[in-house]
Amino acid sequence: MHAVGIVAAAGSGLRLGADLPKALVPLAGRPLVAWSVDALRAGGVTEVVVAVPAAERAAFEAALPGVRLVDGGATRTASVRAALAAAQDLGDAVLVHDAARPLTPPAVVARVLAALADGARAVVPVLPVVDTTVAVGPDGVVTGALPREQLRRVQTPQGFDRATLVQAYDRLPADAELTDDAAVVHTFGIAVQTVAGDERAAKITVTHDLVLAEQQVRR
Ligand code: C5P
Repeated sequence: MHAVGIVAAAGSGLRLGADLPKALVPLAGRPLVAWSVDALRAGGVTEVVVAVPAAERAAFEAALPGVRLVDGGATRTASVRAALAAAQDLGDAVLVHDAARPLTPPAVVARVLAALADGARAVVPVLPVVDTTVAVGPDGVVTGALPREQLRRVQTPQGFDRATLVQAYDRLPADAELTDDAAVVHTFGIAVQTVAGDERAAKITVTHDLVLAEQQVRR
């Protein structure tokens, strides 16, 4: 099995309060996206394609010398769609990873690859939900508790049989906007397997996440 990695790095740094794209924000002096590309490679992915904000291409070229870049889109779904088109010829499996998960341990990548090698068509790393979890109405009032033992937090990289992911994106309406790729294949009835995720693969969203990541690197 030959796996190509897709890194979604075309988001803004808005929630991080950054004046540059989130993927270029430094962690211990290196852009988040460089860490994320390295995480995929360390876990066994050979080729990587990165979706970047079109207006920032030069900065990404400088941050990722020799890495294949494509212009991303207005949504994560559009960005992955563009990278997938560019990665068509590169492998029989695809791992889609968020640039915003820089410290993903190689073992998580390896678990996803192993599940694909065992025949899964779609696989996601997950973590348990430890807090009581509730649904809330538009008025901010709790409408009910959700059974947390059935719930999982979903991380990346998410792995797919390439043909399965390509077909799902082909069938997906052009303006569809989903928060991950497992949701794309699940829409078309494909079973999504799970493997153990890792707290260290947490997504950098707000400043506090970056502070924790800096501590993790220093440890
Ligand atoms: O916004 P959020 O943190 O959920 O984004 C997850 C990942 O998707 C990030 O790594 C971000 O760079 C990427 N993204 C993208 N294209 C967009 C929006 C987000 O590649 N238009």
